Formats: sequence, structure tokens, C-alpha cells
Amino acid sequence: TIPGFVKIWEVGPRDGLQNEKEIVPTAVKVELIKMLVSSGLHIVEATSFVSPKWVPQLADAKDVIQAIQNVEGARFPVLAPNLKGFEAAVAAGAKEVAVFASASESFSRSNINCSIEDSLARFREVALAAQKLSIPVRGYVSCVVGCPEEGAVPPSKVAYVAKELLSMGCMEISLGDTIGVGTPGTVVRMLEEVVNVVPKEKLAVHFHDTYGQALSNILVSLQMGISTVDSSVSGLGGCPYAKSATGNVATEDVVYMLDGLGVKTNVDLRKLILAGNFISKHLGRPSSSKTAIALSKT
Ligand code: HMG
Ligand code: MG
Repeated sequence: TIPGFVKIWEVGPRDGLQNEKEIVPTAVKVELIKMLVSSGLHIVEATSFVSPKWVPQLADAKDVIQAIQNVEGARFPVLAPNLKGFEAAVAAGAKEVAVFASASESFSRSNINCSIEDSLARFREVALAAQKLSIPVRGYVSCVVGCPEEGAVPPSKVAYVAKELLSMGCMEISLGDTIGVGTPGTVVRMLEEVVNVVPKEKLAVHFHDTYGQALSNILVSLQMGISTVDSSVSGLGGCPYAKSATGNVATEDVVYMLDGLGVKTNVDLRKLILAGNFISKHLGRPSSSKTAIALSKT
């Protein structure tokens, strides 16, 4: 059996855009976010309060958050890698944040310039500060199946980091296959370890589609009782610090699959495709969503 309702956590404006070389104007980002909300998405990860030297594309985080203050009907979490980012996010008006750890030591260093243990110490500070302000914190674990430098990552390592994030107060743990190497076999083995330490109601899955395995991986995750799925409109995305990663699974393709399964999402596929067309047009390249391409021909 699979859940009757799936919560889609749209990451397009953040994960989707963070890797784009050409700076996307703030107004385009804001319009994209508004269109995503109009399609029925309740959660749109809007931007990151990270170092602009590390991710120049999201240097306008403050402006984006301020511009969507009055947009109703959705939550707009933002990434915060440390207390500095958390404080900047809150000052700009963010009401929800996400910290991001890695299950692989090398990726932790290349993505956030510190060891896993040091990152967990920083995230504890963020979690504590957030708790005082009643701000919910999501915890990401990257490289849950494989790492661009270390190769296969042991499920026990993923479970360890996920448990640490949970115990510091994260309300939800998102398991990221950052480079999209997982298959239903490796994903199920990983999930079997993680569900021993984090209740499945608090887990989300975050698949990049590098090897075309994301929808299959989502389906097996649903079969294991997970009901929160991260995806990115048009399949935008990639991580600047994981060269081998391509985009996230396309939200349009996830919604099409879930509609077909009779699983509710609250998302209007036609309106979602308009949002995808808007950003694809701006970026000057076709959508990576097979569903969007197919429906544009009908
Ligand atoms: P660092 O260089 O070690 O930081 O970077 P530092 O503490 O030594 O500070 C250096 C400079 O950065 C200082 O400025 C700080 O003020 C500034 P300077 O004195 O040189 O002018 N700084 C900041 N500025 C703005 N916002 C901040 C901030 N913190 C310090 N929050 C740091 C460490 C974590 C900041 C850096 O490595 C960084 O920003 N990394 C972010 C990388 C990133 O965003 N990666 C992509 C997101 S993760 C992802 O995509 C995976 C995910 O999708 C899941 C999956 O797919 O698996 C979530
Ligand atoms: Mg990602």
C-alpha cells in the first residue's frame, strides 16, 4: 500500500536555481514562486542564506523573501548553513529553515567546508536558536546512497546523521540522493536502516534524476510508507559542489505519477506546467520534465 496523500516539497527556486550560471533576476524568481503557489503547492523552498561567494545565484535571498512576505497559501522554507545564515533569514522574514548535513565526509567538506561532526555542532546552534523563536527546522542528509568522491555510502552512516538531526529537534529529515545514483535496490536498503531511527512520518525523500531512477525510487519510498517527496519544477537543479549531479526529479512528472496512482497532492498539473514553461523560457532551454513535454504536444 501507498499513502493516500503525498506532500510535495517544491525545491525549484532553491535547488533548481542554485546551480544556474547566469544570474536570474529577483523578479523572475518571485514570479516563479507565485506561479508555483498558484498551482497548489503548499511548500516552496524559496532560497538559501548561504555565502554569496559559494552560491552567487542566491545572493538576493533577502530580497526574494521580502518580496513574498504577503504571498498566502504556502510555506517558504530557506536553507541556512550556520547561525549567521539563520539570523539573516529570520531578519529577512523567513519563518522556516532547513539545515543540510551530509552522510559523506568528503562531500561535507566540499559543500560546507567542514566535517560532519562540526556541521552537526553548527546545526545544533541553529536548532536551539530556532526553537526559541518557534521556527521549524528541516534537516537534510546529502549523499544518502552515493558520494561524488567516496562512492557508495553505508546506510548506517545515513541513519547516524539522520538520527542526530532528529534529536537536535528537526521536524523532518529529507534524505537526498544528491548525485542521483540510487536504484530501488540501494534506496530500499538505505531506508530500511533509517526507518529504525526516524519515524517514517518524519522522513522525506529527495532524488536527483541523474540516472533516470528518481520516479522508481520515489515509488519504492512510498511503498515503505514515506509520504513527503521533494521535487523541482521542470526538473531544474543540481548542486554546485557535486559536479556529477543533474536536476531534481521534475515536479510535473511526480504529480503525473501520483495522479495516475490516485494519490492526492493538491497540485493542478496544468497550472504547474505554466510555471515550468515560464522558468524554462527564461532560462532559454526546454523543460527536463517528460510530462511537461508530452502535454505541450497535446
Ligand atoms: P566558509 O568559507 O568556511 O565560512 O564557508 P566562514 O565561516 O569561514 O566565513 C567565510 C565568509 O563567508 C565570511 O565572509 C562570512 O561572513 C561569510 P568574509 O569575511 O569572507 O566576507 N559567511 C556567510 N555569508 C552569508 N551567509 C552565510 C555565511 N556564513 C559565512 N550563512 C559556508 C562555510 C557554510 C558559509 C559555505 O561553505 C557555504 O555557504 N556553503 C553553501 C553551499 C551550498 O549552498 N550548497 C548547496 C546547497 S546543499 C544541496 O544542494 C543538497 C540538498 O539539495 C540535498 C541533496 O540534494 O542531497 C540540500
Ligand atoms: Mg538537492
